[in-house]
Amino acid sequence: MKTKLSIIAVLLIGFAALSFKPGDEVSQAGPFKYVGANTCVGACHKSDSQGKQLDIWQNSKHSQAYKTLQTPEADKIAKDKGFTTPAAETPQCLKCHVLGKEMDPSEFESSFSKEDGVQCESCHGPGSEYKKLAIMKDKEKAKENGLIVHDNKEAFCTTCHNSESPTFNAFNYDEMWAKIVHKKP
Ligand code: HEC
Ligand code: HEC
Ligand code: HEC
Repeated sequence: MKTKLSIIAVLLIGFAALSFKPGDEVSQAGPFKYVGANTCVGACHKSDSQGKQLDIWQNSKHSQAYKTLQTPEADKIAKDKGFTTPAAETPQCLKCHVLGKEMDPSEFESSFSKEDGVQCESCHGPGSEYKKLAIMKDKEKAKENGLIVHDNKEAFCTTCHNSESPTFNAFNYDEMWAKIVHKKP
C-alpha cells in the first residue's frame, strides 16, 4: 500500500514537472530560443496551401492579448484585484497574456516581440531549431528540436482558460477551437 502511494506520488510530481506552466519565471536558457511570429512564420505559414496560420492568428484575440492589458478596463481589473501596478506590468496578468515577459532575455532571438501576446511559440514551443525546413518536414525530428505537439488540446488550453482569469466564465473547447483552428489542408 505504502509503495503504491509513493509510486503515485512520484508519478504526480513527475507529471507536474513536465506539464506546461504559463509564465514560469524560473526558466533557464535551453538549447532552443524563441524567434517570434515575424520570421519563419511569415514566410512559411502564410499561403493557402499551407493553411494560412499567420492570418488566422493575426485575426485572433491571442495576437492582441498584450494590447488588451494596455487598456483602462484591464487596469481596473488589476486594481480591483489589489495589484498596484498597471495590468501590462503586473506579472500575475502577463503570465497568461504574453509569452516570455518574465523570461531571461537570453531565451529570445532579436526577431522576437513580446508585444505579440499569445503567439505561435506560446503553444508550439521555441522555434529556433525546428523552424529549419529539413527539421520541420519530419515531425519526430521537429519534436526532438523543441516543437510541442498537443495530444490533449483541451487540457493545454485550460492552462490559461480557467478561473484564475479574472474575466473567465466558461471554456467550451469545441467552440473555442473552432475559432482558432489552423490545420494544414
Ligand atoms: C498562454 C495562455 C493561453 C493558452 C495556452 C490558450 N489561450 Fe486562448 N486566450 C488567452 C488569452 C490571454 C486570451 C484573451 C486575449 C484577449 O482578449 O486579449 C485568449 C482568448 C482566446 C479566444 C478568443 C475568445 C473569444 O471570446 O473570442 C479563443 C477562441 C481562444 N483563446 C482559444 C484557445 C484555444 C482553443 C486554446 C487551446 C488550443 C487556447 N486558447 C489556449 C490565453 C491562452
Ligand atoms: C493558442 C495556441 C496556439 C497558437 C497561438 C498557435 N497554435 Fe498552431 N496549433 C495549436 C494546436 C493545439 C494545434 C493542434 C495540435 C498540434 O499540432 O499541436 C496546432 C496545430 C498547428 C499546425 C499543424 C497543422 C496540421 O494540421 O498539421 C501548424 C502548422 C501550426 N499549428 C502552426 C502555427 C503557427 C504558424 C502559429 C502562429 C502564427 C500557431 N500555430 C499558433 C495551438 C496553437
Ligand atoms: C490564468 C490565465 C489568465 C490570467 C492570470 C489573467 N488572464 Fe486575462 N484573460 C485570460 C483569458 C483566457 C482571457 C479570454 C477569455 C476569458 O475571459 O477568460 C482573458 C481575457 C482578458 C480580458 C478581455 C476580457 C474581454 O471581455 O474581452 C481582459 C481585459 C483581461 N483578461 C485582463 C486581465 C488582467 C488585468 C489580469 C491580471 C489581473 C489578467 N487578465 C490575468 C487569461 C488570463
